[in-house]
Amino acid sequence: METELTKILNIEVPIIGGAMYPCSNPELVAAISEAGAIGIVQPLALTYVWGHDFREGLKKIKSLTSKPFGMNVLLEKSSRTYEKRMRDWVEIALEEGCRFFITALGNPKEIVQVAKAAGGYVFHDVTERKWALKAIENGVDGLIGVNNRAGGHAGTQSPDDLFAQLKGLKLPLVCAGGIGDEKDFRRALEIGYAGVQIGTRFIATKECRAHEDYKQAIVAARESDIVLTERVTGIPLSVIQTPYVKQIGTKASALARYLLRHRKTKEWMRLFYNLRALFNMKRSALRGLSTKDYWQAGKSVEHIHKIESVKDIVGTFRGQGGQVPG
Ligand SMILES: Cc1cc2nc3c(=O)[nH]c(=O)nc-3n(C[C@H](O)[C@H](O)[C@H](O)COP(=O)(O)O)c2cc1C
Repeated sequence: METELTKILNIEVPIIGGAMYPCSNPELVAAISEAGAIGIVQPLALTYVWGHDFREGLKKIKSLTSKPFGMNVLLEKSSRTYEKRMRDWVEIALEEGCRFFITALGNPKEIVQVAKAAGGYVFHDVTERKWALKAIENGVDGLIGVNNRAGGHAGTQSPDDLFAQLKGLKLPLVCAGGIGDEKDFRRALEIGYAGVQIGTRFIATKECRAHEDYKQAIVAARESDIVLTERVTGIPLSVIQTPYVKQIGTKASALARYLLRHRKTKEWMRLFYNLRALFNMKRSALRGLSTKDYWQAGKSVEHIHKIESVKDIVGTFRGQGGQVPG
């Protein structure tokens, strides 16, 4: 199981438990690390959804595992308060011993500087080669290729096509999207990825504290039930097609699209969308089936058939306690 990723991060199995707003509760993050992979803290989930003071939340994770964990930094520019808070959170994470950061959306330069000064590593989420080149210019250590099967904000390319675009760049590449079972995992390594980043599979676990109805919806869903909607964050988000999603459609309204396009209203509109999305996603993940459900999930649902413990899932992926097909 040794790859470039396991060597850099000092972990046993090349699996990153991707950050998930709102699903990354501290017990889930810790269980992923404890199983030999690496769990990633989503700061807004830790504080706003699960109610921890940021440092106390990290201490809780450290009380559950002595193995390394990482932190997700969404480089969102629509709010100065958020930017400042994120900077403070990165400082606290470094003080608490976190040395792995996964950045997404904006320019990772500042995070690279502070992380590297402390001997840490930064991987950046990318969906295309042009963003990968920019991230490399800014000094990242690895790339997370988010493909068109991913939960959350999906990419547009297949895992194979994205690998072909990124492979000449001489950095470790991680496959994000579509890993539901051990066959998907093996296939990603065969393509040449140094590891995988998994989200959806870890929601349907005993350790994830999302509502049981959400977990059961993931188990019941097929790939064809996953749709991209603009209605939550203004950009396509991968969700299960519940009756509510079907009813309201997946396109942003004409007014919202107009406001999102224009220079003067774009930032304000993104802030509005983000705040509304934080609230709606928290509500949807924590309560049961209702008339207004947004359950984020990727196409990996096709290969997710039961709710298991993180330890069993990672064990099966590692070929321990389960038969790993060749
Ligand atoms: C419910 C959910 C929430 C997510 N939230 C975030 C997030 O806050 N930050 C982030 O960088 N990625 C986020 N992602 C993406 C995951 O970290 C990961 O890249 C993705 O889930 C991989 O695809 P998979 O779901 O097919 O395993 C989210 C994914 C899901 C399913």
